[in-house]
Amino acid sequence: MPRSKNPETSKSTSTAATKAAKAPKATKATNGAPPAKGDGDGDLLQRQHEAMQQLAAARPFNELKAGEHGRDPALQPQAGTPVEPADESATASSVRETVVSIKLGSQAQPGHNPGNESLDRVRVDSGGQALTTNQGVRVADNQNSLKAGLRGPTLLEDFILREKITHFDHERIPERVVHARGSAAHGYFECYDPLDQLTMAAPFAAAGKRTPVFVRFSTVAGERGSFDTARDVRGFAVKFYTDDGNWDLVGNNIPVFFIQDAMKFPDLVHALKPEPHHAMPQAASAHDTFWDFVSLMPESAHMLMWVMSDRAIPRSYRMMQGFGVHTFRLVNAAGESKLCKFHWSPRAGTHSLVWDEAVKISGADPDFHRRDLWEAIEAGSFPEWELGLQIFDEEQAENFRFDVLDPTKIVPEELVPLLPVGRLVLNRNPDNFFAETEQVAFCTAHIVPGIDFTNDPLLQGRIHSYVDTQLTRLGGPNFHEIPINASIAQVHNNQRDGLHRQAIHRGSVSYEPNSLAGGCPFQAGRAGGGFVSIPTPFPATGEGDKLRGKPERFADHFSQATLFWRSQSEPEQRHIAGAFRFELSKVQVPAVRERVVSLLANVDAGLAAAVAEGLGFAVPAPQPRALEPAVESELDSSPALSLLARPGDGGVQTRRVALLVVDGADLASLRAAQTALREAGATPRFVGPRIGPLGADESMAIEMSFEQAPSVLWDAVVLANDAAAARPLSMYGQALDFVKDQYRHCKPILALGGPGGLLAAVNLPLMLPEGEADPGLFVCAPPSETDPALRTDADTVTAFIAGLARHRHFERETDPPRV
Ligand code: HEM
Repeated sequence: MPRSKNPETSKSTSTAATKAAKAPKATKATNGAPPAKGDGDGDLLQRQHEAMQQLAAARPFNELKAGEHGRDPALQPQAGTPVEPADESATASSVRETVVSIKLGSQAQPGHNPGNESLDRVRVDSGGQALTTNQGVRVADNQNSLKAGLRGPTLLEDFILREKITHFDHERIPERVVHARGSAAHGYFECYDPLDQLTMAAPFAAAGKRTPVFVRFSTVAGERGSFDTARDVRGFAVKFYTDDGNWDLVGNNIPVFFIQDAMKFPDLVHALKPEPHHAMPQAASAHDTFWDFVSLMPESAHMLMWVMSDRAIPRSYRMMQGFGVHTFRLVNAAGESKLCKFHWSPRAGTHSLVWDEAVKISGADPDFHRRDLWEAIEAGSFPEWELGLQIFDEEQAENFRFDVLDPTKIVPEELVPLLPVGRLVLNRNPDNFFAETEQVAFCTAHIVPGIDFTNDPLLQGRIHSYVDTQLTRLGGPNFHEIPINASIAQVHNNQRDGLHRQAIHRGSVSYEPNSLAGGCPFQAGRAGGGFVSIPTPFPATGEGDKLRGKPERFADHFSQATLFWRSQSEPEQRHIAGAFRFELSKVQVPAVRERVVSLLANVDAGLAAAVAEGLGFAVPAPQPRALEPAVESELDSSPALSLLARPGDGGVQTRRVALLVVDGADLASLRAAQTALREAGATPRFVGPRIGPLGADESMAIEMSFEQAPSVLWDAVVLANDAAAARPLSMYGQALDFVKDQYRHCKPILALGGPGGLLAAVNLPLMLPEGEADPGLFVCAPPSETDPALRTDADTVTAFIAGLARHRHFERETDPPRV
């Protein structure tokens, strides 16, 4: 049977094919032993031998060698010169490769890598199928092991039992050493306009171009089974399956990091993780070793401000920013490069939990963020982010007061504004958590032509770390073949073997240069789209010595921590001070607590005082700075650093609203509120003392009980507060707690039926402390009962929905809380 050419392969290698030299026609069999005669269709072995001779003869010497030396060739690597065999048998492993077998289904196709096909290749649908062993043998009895008699011992011979148990015994693989807990989704990146002036990276090649992506969000400190709402940095890792290979942008939801050099990463993680003697605490930085370490590492001050802010307790993965953190390079086809920072901005705005909620949610729903992401995608409310680039050149970078290679620094948006370049949409949940979310392997070393690294010493260490750890986690060097990791670009190289290898390579050649495979796979060179590192000169003479050290500007540890603090709104500042107080109150060694406050004294005196006051000691003297005099930031404040800077698109899609009900409530007004909320895109649910039908109207039911769905799982509440419902509801302690928590967490509250009832039962203040109306409190009351200070107009529900779009009403927040 003739071998069919893979159309994809023929197309993608066409450049090479046009360049490929034809091997000269064979004349005679060659030196060496004459091949044995084959049978079947002619003398196959003889034909193969001749074809090999032709290929080898076509390359009498390595013509690239002469051009491999010196600086210019280093910048312009040459392309290889492939030779097309006169007969395909020349590069075959066996002359019998064209024999079709049922198991293969088709013969091997040269240059075709099945690992690059869609995940459909490995999607299993067992609908209508009988149970089998891993060898495909149908299992007659999946209930009983094979025994010597009904009451006899189980037999070693039971290969079905042994296969099943052995596989089960090995189901678990090591979890990630950091970022173990995560959730992921598929989607695409869509480019707004071609960026060819800036970069040749494939995702930015054309307006409207869509590149498939897989995105994993994670926490850092906790183990795989830990809870979602820990105070922690969130990973935001994006794998772009580009035409030119995989590009992984492995970022976080915070734009800076704790440390400046990869050398300190194991120390940081050891300090952060549960303490080794008793393995506590889980998924928390609130313990001695973490604060001991960071208080001795003043470069962590900026990151600590972010981690103690509400950024570290996001409301949803869909409502947080993402950052590449390091300064990267973009490179265009002419080899010109610019420096670049990557920013993801959520369409839904940046919103967070408050600490009390985060703590309660960790018990009520440990999968809070995982569920939220999953449900939003299932509901068709696809999470979306805009990618913004900060582009600047070396000269600008030189003029900043900070060093752009220092990952503890941002480039404020006020200095270099964001250039919006495309959008990221997540529109499909994984089919299988383990196969995809757990086995995905992100790596900062995965870049494509058009992107390059800078000398950021943290980034440089990361480039090594990911593959190294994945070798262990994923069991060997072939994890790039796992479908979720396989690039959609063709993979051709001479790497071979190793545990779990799937690719079945034709032929005898696994080296380069070669003549016996026609020189293939050949090096692409610059002209053939090969990756060429941007030549960056070593620093001026005298600085290029081999040494361990840091640039001088890395010694400014506080200017941006202060900038961050000054850029926060009042409630945000309150939360940061509260977070430091909480964390340090968990620290057992007083000297560590005091050392942290002495660090904060270099950030802001007010912050240090607020923290020290809660811990019961006077503010100690500020720690000596590594750099005197103190560096002042370019800006007094950067509004873009406040969560309030990104309120989102003003929609309420997927916001969860509890309608608190009990039998006998005024169903007509509840139904009206439910309809209005649904129409606005929110997710209203009836919550009551027990699940089941609600009154005589069978179309309405209590969907969730107080036990199952406490207040912290909801973005807002609608209370059945009419005369018939308020009294029985007030008899439930959970309903009272519900209202209190909604109020304390500054969420919008709509009371249907008047201001008394449940509101009165919890002594809920109807006014703000200064006497103004509470902008998050909405009351629908019959006109006769109306308090003139309250909103009672017919559009109250609409106003409530607008209040929901604002997410929180921090005007109400007091320390200590009034309710
Ligand atoms: C020298 C510093 C760092 C080292 C050595 C390091 C190392 C690691 C390692 C070993 C993993 C587990 C990978 C795996 O098992 O698949 C990991 C995961 C991760 N790291 Fe880092 N990391 C460093 C800094 C950072 C920074 C600065 C960021 C953010 C910009 C970051 C973001 C992530 C993310 C998002 C993941 C999870 C990827 C996923 O979802 O699978 N890391 N890191």
